[in-house]
This record gives sequence, structure tokens and C-alpha cells, in this order.
Amino acid sequence: AETVAQLCDDRELVVVSNREPYSHAREDGEVSVDRPAGGLTAALDPVMQTAEGTWVAWGDGDADREVVGPDDAVAVPPEDPAYDLRRVWLTDEQVEGYYRGYSNQVLWPLCHLDTAKLTPREDFWSAYRETNADFADAILDSTADADRDPVVWFQDYHLALAPRRVREARSDAFLAHFWHIPWPSWDVFRACPQYEHLLDGLLANDLVGFHTDAYCRNFLDCVDAATDARVDRSSRSVSYRGRRTFVRALPLGIDAGRQAALAESDAATEWWAQFRETHGIDASETVAVGVERLDYTKGIEPRLRALERFWAENPEWCGNFTYVQKGTESRSGIPAYDALQDRVAAEVERINDRFGTDDWTPVVYTTDHLPEEGIAALYREADLGLVTPVRDGMNLVAKEFVAAQTRDPGVLVLSELAGATGQLGDEAVVVHPHDAAGFADRIGDALSLSRAESRRRAADLQREVHAEDVYDWLESTFETAAAIERGRRSVRTA
Ligand code: F6P
Repeated sequence: AETVAQLCDDRELVVVSNREPYSHAREDGEVSVDRPAGGLTAALDPVMQTAEGTWVAWGDGDADREVVGPDDAVAVPPEDPAYDLRRVWLTDEQVEGYYRGYSNQVLWPLCHLDTAKLTPREDFWSAYRETNADFADAILDSTADADRDPVVWFQDYHLALAPRRVREARSDAFLAHFWHIPWPSWDVFRACPQYEHLLDGLLANDLVGFHTDAYCRNFLDCVDAATDARVDRSSRSVSYRGRRTFVRALPLGIDAGRQAALAESDAATEWWAQFRETHGIDASETVAVGVERLDYTKGIEPRLRALERFWAENPEWCGNFTYVQKGTESRSGIPAYDALQDRVAAEVERINDRFGTDDWTPVVYTTDHLPEEGIAALYREADLGLVTPVRDGMNLVAKEFVAAQTRDPGVLVLSELAGATGQLGDEAVVVHPHDAAGFADRIGDALSLSRAESRRRAADLQREVHAEDVYDWLESTFETAAAIERGRRSVRTA
């Protein structure tokens, strides 16, 4: 709170994200407000309450528009209003072209190195440009009357172009951007026909943050290759169009204390008892868990293949080692996502037909909404947490799993292709998601670790996720921004 207060003392804070921190609905004439469970929005909300600024986000759903009115910002949280939530209303065409199209069929596969999935349609690009302009206009509008200069903090890949439009109108604003997904190498990035526009948009920021040093290096390489900017690798900064952009690794963490408390709650214990009974998981069974959105980057299919191999090669584990997969339907309507949902369901059925018995289901698969306590209970009760994406910017599930090991600790099995491996790889069992044989062997290794060894590893991992939690990330981000500002002031006064 102190760092936020320092930076925002003479500045107006504006957070901008695709997803909104609250959604409004009207039911039977009554207005209800829902707080989506996202970790990032939950962590930024108290910051905004301290800073008393504005949060600009896509108003997802007609109920919002109906309740809030077409233009107005609404004060949140409802019980004790502290800041303004301003919605950007999108047409169906914009949702299709900006969100399902350019964001998730161009930038998402591009940054996750899956160029075969790139769908560089012109209408996607024009909707992305138009929607980024709408976001920028909403920011400009909501800061027009402010007495203080704005600090605008953009979140993620949906908003690469908005900073340039804001910069053109507000040279006094401090603009920061955090890119939550990987940044690819130049060879990959150039597969996107609009690469120059994307870099031009992002270089309107004073600070661009990524999860890892490798993504920062890739970004600087792209800028170097694609623009006439001057790249200074020693200070990790770029001089472009009369301004300087600083590029920093700021690895995102979770609210580890909250996750541990959820895992320890009575609600988690009750939920697990019920879940076990419903799915016939015996108390003596060894359990592995995977929790993710149904996204092709998460490596669910290669993981199922590795598990299949493990059961085939280790029949002594059939009947007493169950894998629980929680899959959340995501980005439905995009062909690659719809197809994945079908394939995962079919693979689970096939594996269960192959090994299952009347008393035992090898893969317990659910797409149901689970309460936070339920997810925490799954993590807590699991002997193995399988977090094996084929590519991931960071992966916060790995950190949540670690934080929830409050009792008999389970072992984290982590893909070498997740951003989180840089921080957690030493004490996790690391696998290559596409090496089914090695992956199956590592599952065996993880299951045979002594209790003392898994305790030691879990303790080290817990220290890491508690020390570098989301509050640490917020502090580092605000301190970095403040240091850039101080540097500029001292240059101006020298
Ligand atoms: O990982 C990037 C990200 O935007 C996350 O911040 C978010 O949890 C996830 O993707 C969800 O995606 P969507 O908003 O498309 O449901």
C-alpha cells in the first residue's frame, strides 16, 4: 500500500485489462454484483482501492450494459465504493474479431510458438485495431478531467496497440504494460504480418514487463530486428520515437497465504470427502491432479498419453493410482478449442475403457465449475501435481499447488517448458511434455520419493512461492516504475 501510495500520490492510477474485476447483473429486478475468481483481478482490486483510480475493462455481458448504462463508470466494490470501473462495450463483431479472432487466434498461438494455428484474417486485425482504439478512448475520457497526471497500467496481449493512441494524446502519462504470456523469438514473431504495428504500440509504454529474462531478450531482439529503435541491452531499454522504454522481468506470483488458508479450510475438507465419494476414489489410493483451462498450450493430451504409458508399463499401479483432471471450458467457439474439448473427452474415455474396472476409474475427468475450496482440496490431497504445459508464460497453477501443500506434501511434476520452471524447477520433478517415455518414468520417480525428500522439496518450494508472491510482484512493478520516474526527473533537473 505504501509503494502504491507513493507512486499514486501525485498520479491517477488507471488499470486496463480485457477481463473485468466485477460483473453486474439484474435478476428479478435486483442488481447483483459478482466478483470473478481470477487471481490477478483479486490481487489488483485492493491496489485500486488504495489508489482510488479507474479500472477500464470489457463489459462482458448484456446485463452490465443494462445495469450500468452505456457510458457510465460504476463505483466498486459495491459494499464500500473506492474506485471507478469503466466498461468498454463491444459489439458481437468486435468480440469475434478482437477477442476470439486476433487475440486468441493470432497473438495467443504466435506467442506460444504454435504458428500452424495462426489465423491472420484481415477482419480480425481491423477489429483488434478498432477495439484497442476504443479502450484507449475510454482511458483518455476517464482521465480527461483528472487533476493528476495518469499512470496507466495495461494488462496482457489483448491491448498491444492501445498504449500508442494514449501516448499520442497524453505525453505526460506514465504507461506500463505487463505481458502475461511468453514473448517469442524474432524468427517466430515475424510470422505475424502486423509485427511492426504491435511493436510500435508496445513501445509507447515507459515500462514493458515480462515473466522471465528470456522473454525480455526475445522482445529486445524483435525490436532490434524490426524497427529503427536504438536498443541498449545493458540497461535493457529502447529509444524509439523520442522516448525510452524500459524492459524488465517481473515474474508474477500468487496470493500464497490465501491459497494455503483455502487448503486448510473446513470447506476444503468437506468438499474432498464428497468428491471422493461421488467418484469412488478410495482413501488408500494415490492421487495425481491436473487443473487447467482446456487450452492446447496446457499439454493435457501429451499428459494423458504419458499416464497411459505409465499404467501400461506399471500394472501394479492399476487400481490404486487415480488421475483427477479438472478442465475448464475456455474460448469456446474457436475451432481449435472446440476440437480440443472433444479430443480430451474422447481420450479420457478411451483410457478408462482400456484400464478401468468396476471398482476403479483411472482418469476422473470433470469440466464442472469447482469452488475455490474444492480446487485447493484437490491440490492438498494430491500426491502428485502434474503441471506440464507444452508452453506457458508462467503457470500459476504450479504455484497454487505448492502453496496448498499444507499437510502431507505432494510432489510437483513440472514441464521444462513453463515459465515457472525458472523459479521452481530445482525442487520439482521436471519433465519434457512431449517425451512420453521419459514423462512416464518421471511419474514413477516422483511416486517413489521418500516422505522426507518430498517434505524437504515442498518446504523449499513453499518458501519460494510465499517470498515471491503477487504482493511482491506488485511492489516490484511499482518500485520499477517509480525508479524510472525518479531517473527522468533527475535528468530533467540536471
Ligand atoms: O494467461 C493469459 C490469460 O489472459 C490469463 O491472464 C487468464 O487467466 C487467461 O489467459 C484466461 O483467458 P480468457 O480471458 O480468454 O478466458
